[in-house]
Amino acid sequence: MTQDNPIPGRDAAVSLREVTYANLFEVLDLKVKPEQECLVGPNSVSISEAHFWPTGRFRAIYAVDTPVGFVMIDDHYLADENRTLELRKKGVDDYYLQRFMIDGEHRGKGYGFRAMELVIEHVKSRPNATQMTTNQVTGDSNAGEFYKKLGFEHTGEEDRGEPERLVI
Ligand SMILES: CC(C)(COP(=O)(O)OP(=O)(O)OC[C@H]1O[C@@H](n2cnc3c(N)ncnc32)[C@H](O)[C@@H]1OP(=O)(O)O)[C@@H](O)C(=O)NCCC(=O)NCCS
Repeated sequence: MTQDNPIPGRDAAVSLREVTYANLFEVLDLKVKPEQECLVGPNSVSISEAHFWPTGRFRAIYAVDTPVGFVMIDDHYLADENRTLELRKKGVDDYYLQRFMIDGEHRGKGYGFRAMELVIEHVKSRPNATQMTTNQVTGDSNAGEFYKKLGFEHTGEEDRGEPERLVI
């Protein structure tokens, strides 16, 4: 870490930035703590998936100019109109939080919370955005409490093979 890019502190400004070739490898290097690996897929897999998935949108999470995390949502309004209508008819969630991670070295500094506030703000600006959903696997270190603090509620349902569905 050079002096030009010091480790950001708790008060660092958090932003969502595009992943480009210039920051791709830094984003691929972001890793959750080993005990959290069962909770979220690696960023390499998420970015590969999004390449084949027209309604997936992802961003790197930055604390000032340091990449600290990654987020990916499914936004059905990015599809063409017919496909969006088809998905709506099927009752599939329009806005779904697919991946969210903060690198293990940067955990616990409030970056995740502030980044998720930005994600929620973005989703609210999208067409017909009445809710955003997400799912999580059950586990001691799952992010249930984190999501609750942001206002997500457990629905008590199972979805997409994962036992805990949350909605905000
Ligand atoms: C969950 C995660 C995104 C939180 O990021 P973070 O930057 O460490 O979280 P923050 O520092 O912003 O925490 C905000 C609040 O949530 C709490 N919190 C964060 N993670 C928590 C957890 N796993 N369990 C309980 N509380 C948690 C914090 O204590 C903090 O509470 P406070 O405001 O009362 O102090 C991060 O730990 C992570 O990447 N986890 C692994 C991947 C994952 O589970 N992703 C979600 C499912 S896809």
